[in-house]
Amino acid sequence: MIRVLFVCLGNICRSPMAEFLFKDMAQKRGEAGRYLAESAGTSSEEEGNPVYPPARAELARHGISCAGKRARPLTAADYAKYDYILAAESANVRSILRICGGDPEKKVHRILDFSARPRDISDPWYTGDFARTYADLVEGLEGFFRLLDAKKG
Ligand code: 4NP
Repeated sequence: MIRVLFVCLGNICRSPMAEFLFKDMAQKRGEAGRYLAESAGTSSEEEGNPVYPPARAELARHGISCAGKRARPLTAADYAKYDYILAAESANVRSILRICGGDPEKKVHRILDFSARPRDISDPWYTGDFARTYADLVEGLEGFFRLLDAKKG
């Protein structure tokens, strides 16, 4: 079982979209049982809140449910629990390193670091464009699956 934690600031937009898109992609590949995917925020501001309605709507447009997800903050203990800790943007990476006290096992990456054009995920909190965020996530996660496939051997 490969354990993946997606991380953004609030855990109500980008990282839950990544979590549920990743699960959907894994299921469509017939690999649902191979992965555990969860998400968390570097801030506790939104703790306990459901996925932000426009993010939920964007997932629903693609037939993906995120029912039951509630925001939860990243903790130092999470570092040991996951194989990959994938951030939406560089600012999240800095916060993850602060919260977890470093990255000795090189688990922390940006989601789009696995794409041909490494960059931050477009932040819908500022753009209002949840479709663009979704497209960025597809691009990053397709690259991540390429890496996972390559590691299968
Ligand atoms: P997320 O979106 O980090 O993608 O979940 C945000 C949620 C809340 C805030 C910013 C971004 N906020 O400033 O409260």
